[in-house]
Amino acid sequence: MDDLQTVLAHIRRLLEAGLTANGHGFRLPIMASVDREGKPSARALILRHVDFEAREVRLHTDSRTRKVEEIGAYPYVMLVFNDQVANVQVQLKGCASLHQDDVYAEDAWTGASRSSRRAYLTEAGPGSSIKYPASGLPADVAAIVPDEARLRQGRHHFTAIRICFDEIEWLLLDGSENRRVAFRFEADSGWVGNWCVP
Ligand SMILES: Cc1cc2nc3c(=O)[nH]c(=O)nc-3n(C[C@H](O)[C@H](O)[C@H](O)COP(=O)(O)O)c2cc1C
Repeated sequence: MDDLQTVLAHIRRLLEAGLTANGHGFRLPIMASVDREGKPSARALILRHVDFEAREVRLHTDSRTRKVEEIGAYPYVMLVFNDQVANVQVQLKGCASLHQDDVYAEDAWTGASRSSRRAYLTEAGPGSSIKYPASGLPADVAAIVPDEARLRQGRHHFTAIRICFDEIEWLLLDGSENRRVAFRFEADSGWVGNWCVP
């Protein structure tokens, strides 16, 4: 893969496959942020939406999580995607915004599956300590996926994370044809790529 436009098209294909293909390596990127002390913080999240033209990615989370506090204080994040079949790693860097009460968040909420929306009904936020092993869900929904009205009661815990990326690093390590490119988005020229030693 020795052409920058081909590499960009490849990155786009992988990201879009992560949205739709079950079990695809790009389905579950790692998002790294920085905490208030400047220490790194990273975790896996499901990729919910990609608009490559707009340079946007969407993730969903609980408003009570550490990552929401971190992004609120310092919005720069990195997403790391890894496809162990294709031996490709893609890193996106950009600025994240948090959406809780706007149209963007509402569209994300209504587009999410009922089973994933149930997670926002936990009584205490993710990461809260509990005395015994449990899901944290209230008893009435622990064993079932409830109806829309009950799901809605967790809506205020839902946050859509919108990331606008302006840097991409692509790395292909397949043994014989190792390649690496660093792309930066420039307002007047679009994606500008530089080949690097892998
Ligand atoms: C398979 C898998 C999928 C996950 N998907 C999400 C997700 O879409 N959103 C999310 O907030 N956390 C998700 N998590 C949990 C996060 O990795 C993390 O533990 C949680 O969000 C708390 O992170 P924080 O305390 O750093 O904010 C997922 C974890 C696993 C193992």
